Amino acid sequence: MKLFLDSAHLQEIKKAVSWVIIDGVTTNPSLIKKAVLAMRESGERIDMDGYIKKILAEVGRMRPVSLEVAGLTADEMVEQGKILYDKFDQVTGNVAIKIPVCTVNTSGEGDPFDGIMAINRLSDEKIPVNATLIFTPEQALLAAKAGADYVSPFAGRVDDRIRQKTGMKFEKTDYFPATGIFDESSTDSLITDHELNSGVDLVARIVEIFSIYEVECEVIAASIRNATQARDCAEAGADIATVPFSVLESMVMHPGTRDGIDAFTNDLENDYTALFSGEV
Ligand code: E4P
Repeated sequence: MKLFLDSAHLQEIKKAVSWVIIDGVTTNPSLIKKAVLAMRESGERIDMDGYIKKILAEVGRMRPVSLEVAGLTADEMVEQGKILYDKFDQVTGNVAIKIPVCTVNTSGEGDPFDGIMAINRLSDEKIPVNATLIFTPEQALLAAKAGADYVSPFAGRVDDRIRQKTGMKFEKTDYFPATGIFDESSTDSLITDHELNSGVDLVARIVEIFSIYEVECEVIAASIRNATQARDCAEAGADIATVPFSVLESMVMHPGTRDGIDAFTNDLENDYTALFSGEV
């Protein structure tokens, strides 16, 4: 499974790229806002154009960076997707355009298929597209049929929706079992969202459907909240998981590893350490 960093924070990106295991980066308007606020707080001036170019250069060729459009109609999304691609892909040739699969808002405004049409039109122009805000396998299938190169199922947000149904309290980073959770009143009935048991279940089903029909579209498990969920996504066969910086850090840590480091350091024999000091 490839690993993307889900961040628009330049310092996080620099650090994660230096760790050599990052295959790409995903951003969204909320992540850009977070990065801009952090810059403003530290008194830095914001030049969005220059900032994005720095991100792209830092990530480098062959590692895709997703940049999201802001418009809600097909025409706006296509126009903005082209602006982003024309402006930024020339930096290191690694831009993918993120298009929401459906832009209907909570007031019901919008055309349900504008996202799909925008994906199709950009894909026809050979612009790589990452279809985002995927909450069902059928949305993923439609996006792939329209020509998306990537689909991004929002695993963590599916889990949030299931937990919200139960009224249970939870922290954003809490683990949600891939197999789902049962209704308190019955051990037979799982609480689901659109008949999905969990965000990982969503990822697994998309992977399965794409495999049955040999769909050439990569599945990016997104909205990942902790290291165990990243593991579950790997087991589910996701092509890629995009993880926040804190999740990436936690993926390499374990108390057993830490205790082992203490023990090995305490047990070092002088004759053994001499091997490394050049002393005979
Ligand atoms: C993916 O591309 C999105 O940027 C992201 O994973 C959303 O995660 P969140 O649900 O934690 O905001």
